[in-house]
Amino acid sequence: MLIGIGLATGYATLVDYTNTLGFCAHTCHEMESTVYQEYSHSKHFKNEQGVVVGCPQCHVPHDAWALTMGRKVVASFELWAHFTVFAGAGQDEIKERFEARRMALAKRVWAGFKETNARECKACHKYSNMVLADQRPSVRAQHTDAMKTDENCLDCHKGLTHKTMTDPAEQHAPAANSFDIQ
Ligand code: HEC
Ligand code: HEC
Ligand code: HEC
Repeated sequence: MLIGIGLATGYATLVDYTNTLGFCAHTCHEMESTVYQEYSHSKHFKNEQGVVVGCPQCHVPHDAWALTMGRKVVASFELWAHFTVFAGAGQDEIKERFEARRMALAKRVWAGFKETNARECKACHKYSNMVLADQRPSVRAQHTDAMKTDENCLDCHKGLTHKTMTDPAEQHAPAANSFDIQ
């Protein structure tokens, strides 16, 4: 029983430790000098209300330990790239190598959001709680439509916190985003 408690506590501590903005953004240069730079100029980091949405809140399942564990296992494979692809490279080289892999990485994230129908976005944003009347008419029309089919937010909101890239399989023209607000 003690071993069980020990393992469970160790696991919980590891999840808590790795589920922080600091860990995700600042442990590896390949995150810090690329996606983090962009994110830190987006509205999910800086806004009127001062609400900070950390990396894990979009990239790790909320309130589902089994799914979280799955995500952590996948993430530990990502460490492989950290040691094989990026190890020892200088700042510029890291950015270059990251950019070369970026479309493939983005596609993987888009596929994940498609599979869950943007579950992580919807943990915070609910169509049913949007005050549509306060949205500009063009935005209201888009959301009124999207709500009917509980559409994946990413169908329109790609490149919200990171550099905008165009997926060839785009269904809608992408919505403008707040990246580069300041
Ligand atoms: C932890 C909660 C949380 C999560 C998860 C989250 N958001 Fe947000 N989002 C916010 C908050 C809070 C704001 C308001 C910031 C402001 O005041 O402008 C916001 C703002 C926005 C905006 C308007 C500002 C902008 O950047 O254009 C869009 C669009 C948006 N979110 C879409 C998404 C999408 C798509 C996802 C999933 C990929 C997502 N959000 C995930 C909390 C969240
Ligand atoms: C059919 C396309 C479409 C879908 C699907 C969609 N949106 Fe939007 N949304 C837009 C457009 C277009 C805008 C306006 C962007 C701009 O120009 O600022 C917008 C703006 C927003 C804004 C800013 C509101 C404002 O008043 O400016 C938020 C927040 C937002 N969307 C959240 C979401 C979330 C969360 C989802 C998924 C639950 C979602 N949207 C799904 C098209 C869409
Ligand atoms: C509001 C939700 C949200 C937040 C917060 C967020 N991301 Fe992302 N991330 C996404 C989405 C959605 C994509 C898919 C590509 C796109 O549309 O920008 C993505 C893509 C990525 C990619 C793949 C490369 C790329 O540019 O597409 C990496 C790596 C990444 N995110 C890391 C991070 C890190 C590290 C943080 C925190 C510093 C972070 N993300 C914060 C939603 C988010």
